[in-house]
Amino acid sequence: MLDTRAVHAGRDDLAALGVHVPPIDLSTTYPLPDIDAGGASYDELTQGRGPDGGSLVYQRLWNPNVARFEDALAELEQTDGAVAFGSGMAALTACLLAIVAAGRTHVVAVRPLYGGTDHLLSTGLLGTTVTYAKPTEVAGAIRPDTGLVIVETPANPTVDLVDLRYVVTAAGDVPVLVDNTFATPVLQQPARHGASLVLHSATKYLGGHGDVMGGVVAAGVGWVGRLRQIRAVTGGLLHPLAAYELHRGLQTLPLRVRAQQATAIKVADWLSAQPGVERVHYPGLNDPQGLIGRQQAGPGAVLAFTLTGGFEAASKVARRLRLITHAVSLGGVDTLIQHPAALTHRLVASEAKPSDGLLRLSLGLEDPEDLITDLRNALDG
Ligand SMILES: Cc1ncc(COP(=O)(O)O)c(C=O)c1O
Repeated sequence: MLDTRAVHAGRDDLAALGVHVPPIDLSTTYPLPDIDAGGASYDELTQGRGPDGGSLVYQRLWNPNVARFEDALAELEQTDGAVAFGSGMAALTACLLAIVAAGRTHVVAVRPLYGGTDHLLSTGLLGTTVTYAKPTEVAGAIRPDTGLVIVETPANPTVDLVDLRYVVTAAGDVPVLVDNTFATPVLQQPARHGASLVLHSATKYLGGHGDVMGGVVAAGVGWVGRLRQIRAVTGGLLHPLAAYELHRGLQTLPLRVRAQQATAIKVADWLSAQPGVERVHYPGLNDPQGLIGRQQAGPGAVLAFTLTGGFEAASKVARRLRLITHAVSLGGVDTLIQHPAALTHRLVASEAKPSDGLLRLSLGLEDPEDLITDLRNALDG
């Protein structure tokens, strides 16, 4: 069961080692038995394979804490493996470099997407080009040089859901990358719906406490090898201490996500009855495709709402909140609110920018009544 594996995954060898928590290995380099063995290990690791009993050689090639976190996340996402990076954007960069290296530089992407992802694709900074498509347009947008279809569900910031089986079928032979940051493996395991790559900004729910940055891609063995190779040569590493914290974060992930989701359901209900609120974006209130239950186990703990008073009203709410912190990011134990058009989605082209009256709310572990009181004071004032 997922809750059990979240606690124990990546730790099965600890008792045999005589320890209760993973030892932290901060070595940047490792003693080599002899030149030939060192060279053979170097080959294995730079070609994207594991150490298999040989030397770990150098931290950029392998680190035990990073490997434990990767194993645990892969177990929760039900993939062969995972590759961790220094941030979610570093993880996405590695995926794009992989398709560029294979000569497939075109990406089909379904908007909305996190602003940084949208910006990286739109600027073509890594040598890719992009066609933005609705799910129903994905099949028609695929070209011979398409290397990846990119989807977020729930999507940042409006928590729109995308039917993954539909998109995977439409993509045909082209691999589909699903950003699963908002749902986490607790609510959704995209690989089970045919996704080839499952990406997380681990900075959010996986860490869960707003004190560690990271990114991770869970995938099949072929992709894992390619991404490790890219990480080894480009260096977008996850630090071992960050890996330790992310691995620990996974142990409480199911509890946190479900508790935060329960609060989101209450707050979404309350917000939808407020006169100053034009619309609450939350799959728990509106799920026209019937994906909750079929694809995603619950509506999640992020919502967005549009104020009838537009930007002025949004700005006033962000300023007047006292308990809820006005800050970007999400998925931590404390509730955060932010204005996507001005902040996380600032660099998105005007045709895809979120509305000026939209605020995104990531629910934490506070008492829901305290959060509602804070929101009431900010909306009424
Ligand atoms: C859905 C999503 N994907 C990716 C990212 C990028 O992750 P990071 O900030 O860890 O680089 C974010 C960041 O907000 C995000 O919300």
